[in-house]
Amino acid sequence: MKIVRTIADLMAAVADARVAGGTVGLVPTMGAFHEGHLTLMRRAREANGTVVVSLFVNPTQFGPAEDLTTYPRDEERDAALAQAEGVDILFAPSVDQMYPAGFATTIHVSGVTDVLCGAHRGPHHFDGVATVVTRLFGLVRPDVAYFGQKDAQQVIVVRRVVRDLALPVRVESVPIVREADGLAMSSRNVHLDTDARQRALGLNRALAAAQTAVDAGERDAAAVLAAARADLDAAGVDPEYLELRDPDDLHELTRLDRPALLAVAARVGATRLIDNRLLTPP
Ligand code: PAJ
Repeated sequence: MKIVRTIADLMAAVADARVAGGTVGLVPTMGAFHEGHLTLMRRAREANGTVVVSLFVNPTQFGPAEDLTTYPRDEERDAALAQAEGVDILFAPSVDQMYPAGFATTIHVSGVTDVLCGAHRGPHHFDGVATVVTRLFGLVRPDVAYFGQKDAQQVIVVRRVVRDLALPVRVESVPIVREADGLAMSSRNVHLDTDARQRALGLNRALAAAQTAVDAGERDAAAVLAAARADLDAAGVDPEYLELRDPDDLHELTRLDRPALLAVAARVGATRLIDNRLLTPP
């Protein structure tokens, strides 16, 4: 595995890989790898001649009151894990490489960024994500890029950018990887103390309770949300949002006559967690 830190070295390494033949798969990450990240890498490894993983804690997607400075970082461990997954190129740039002096472009997606994490974290968040991902696509020019369904709204935003800017990349989304007890894996989980770790289980329990209500025939969104809410209350978790939305364009749903995305965000202790589940009427 090659570790590259500059744009020039990245482009040279990708050019060499292209000469060797086969498709290029890209897995954008902010590091602190867990099974979720590794699953994306495995998917990419199975399907491509070359696998590029980017490791960059992107400052522009964090708000001033958010956890940029405390975001977990351990490049040495990450590099070893990526190598073990058979990654070919690990791109770990500095902020200056990604945002050189004079950088002046922002990709803003409207509509789907107005709700959920876009509404609660502010517009900078998905602007930052869309801009850094578009730049990574330009640098690597991957055939396929892999994203986790854990960040369902992020996948929708990236797909919108790809469609609107006619970028020649296929976006593949990968199901949420969970701990044995159901907690969605997240780099931020390392910040949970024993009590918060226990309470965090309320999120997945709430999502499961909602599916149980749907399985029992409930189709009214408010009633399904109330079923989910009860589990959050029981865990002592006050959600930032708990909403049922269309899985393609994120418009709010009042009835569950077709698959619906149930998305939740909550601060548990000092840690902001998100989770979601596609609810499907039987
Ligand atoms: P990061 O949070 O490091 O996540 C990198 C990728 O891993 C994302 O596509 C995310 O959805 C996926 N992922 C995280 N936890 C997962 C889980 N439990 N199961 C499945 N996939 C999971 O998302 C970002 O970084 C950034 O916003 C980025 C796209 C790199 C842009 O900066």
